[in-house]
Amino acid sequence: MRFITVIGSGYVGLVSGTCFSEIGNSVICCDIDEERIKGLRQGRVPFYEPGLSELIKKNTSVNRLTFTSNIPDAIKSSDIIYIAVGTPMGADGKADLTYIEAAAKTIGENLEKYTIIVNKSTVPVGTGEMVKEIINKNLKDKNINFDVVANPEFLREGSAIEDCMNMERAIIGSDSQYAAHEIKKLHNPFNTNVMLTDTRSAEMIKYASNGFLATKISYINAIANICEKVGSDINEVAKGMGMDSRIGSRFLQAGIGYGGSCFPKDTHALVHIAEKEGYEFELMKSVIKTNNKQRLTVIDKLVSILGVLAGKKIGILGLAFKPNTDDLRFAPSIDIINELHKHQAIITAYDPIATGHAVNLIQNKAEIHHDLYDTVIDCDACVILTEWDEIVTLDPKKLREKLRLPVIVDGRNCMDMNTMKENGFIYHSIGRPHIGSIRAKAANN
Ligand code: UDX
Ligand code: UDX
Repeated sequence: MRFITVIGSGYVGLVSGTCFSEIGNSVICCDIDEERIKGLRQGRVPFYEPGLSELIKKNTSVNRLTFTSNIPDAIKSSDIIYIAVGTPMGADGKADLTYIEAAAKTIGENLEKYTIIVNKSTVPVGTGEMVKEIINKNLKDKNINFDVVANPEFLREGSAIEDCMNMERAIIGSDSQYAAHEIKKLHNPFNTNVMLTDTRSAEMIKYASNGFLATKISYINAIANICEKVGSDINEVAKGMGMDSRIGSRFLQAGIGYGGSCFPKDTHALVHIAEKEGYEFELMKSVIKTNNKQRLTVIDKLVSILGVLAGKKIGILGLAFKPNTDDLRFAPSIDIINELHKHQAIITAYDPIATGHAVNLIQNKAEIHHDLYDTVIDCDACVILTEWDEIVTLDPKKLREKLRLPVIVDGRNCMDMNTMKENGFIYHSIGRPHIGSIRAKAANN
């Protein structure tokens, strides 16, 4: 058993800390946000993540997992410290390392014995050395030894516990063989593939992985846009592509593109990491540009079906950047609602979980509802932006009764085309044939 302190109890730190306690370690999760710590001590998880509150309760009940905002004390009582504070995208697109620097300073000021410092946060190449310098500069006793390790996180929101407890691989980068092997031993109960490498390569593996996954998404979305023009069906194309093991069938789901706290942030950071070294990462810039445009194809589709959107009532189903999370960071829904507002459309919106966070992001632009069907009453169109189970399995007859016009724009290609046709919808999705049209409907009536 090891004594671990995790600095930063967000999506990454709280999940990692809880999973480390689940495999038998004594973990203190810290945060500067005292309200967050108070809530955690009362069993309140500050965000939605399936299975997390149960796992926290299980480990706090046997005192393997505790919470504090007294970070200095936690540092003194642990032999491994994980840094999992935010590395948000700065205004210029670069990773903002303010919080990493603050955490490293606090660690330096409070180290009293040999400790292994582990960067779990996604950090630009070279940050491990920066952390080492800051700790050295702030050490009270210059004789205290420590080592720094890079151990990037690969969990996905919405499946974070599963991804952590059954991680596909652990990447451990350090110039200290001893520290690297200690962190490797820490990972033994996960029974995962472990790769030991140098710090800079470990830091780059994280960015290169997220950059590649984002590229795959922008690529399939660009192919989807071409499919619409040439009459192919992107779902069939993706299926055929995925049969090649070199391509793989995952991450080929066309739609309105990626959001979340990682891909948008990490693709920009990667461009900056390259630019700082004099390399123009044109490919990544086009991945970003493709993704930013992709979400607004929903507007073009609505205009092609309804004409001028001013005064038209549009019901949005799904706000979170993906299902099973309440995270709205860089969610396509926010940009789409802002654009609809500019078109002076009347907007209603529904999300099974994420409405709490949505209020201050889209208030006075969209009327938020807490029932899926109420959201679309008298709407001229319904727009699906998140493929929550509740939305994918909605009752098409009931939906059609509520709508003023039987129009669906499906930004996640999550509805069945035959069901749409059988229920008389005018149905547009991404990269698939369109079903029906207002003109044809008017001609039939
Ligand atoms: C984020 C990014 O999503 C991820 O890519 C990166 O690797 C780490 O930062 P996440 O867990 O989503 O991970 O961050 P967030 O949910 O913002 O949580 C960060 C937590 O750190 C917050 O609770 C914040 O209060 C806390 N924090 C921040 C500190 O405890 N100390 C600080 O100095 C700054
Ligand atoms: C991602 C990485 O998957 C994870 O390894 C890393 O640690 C953090 O960033 P996350 O952002 O939580 O995880 O979710 P993910 O499931 O990867 O989806 C990211 C975005 O891409 C979502 O907006 C999703 O809707 C979109 N997406 C994903 C697609 O549009 N098509 C796909 O085929 C897959």
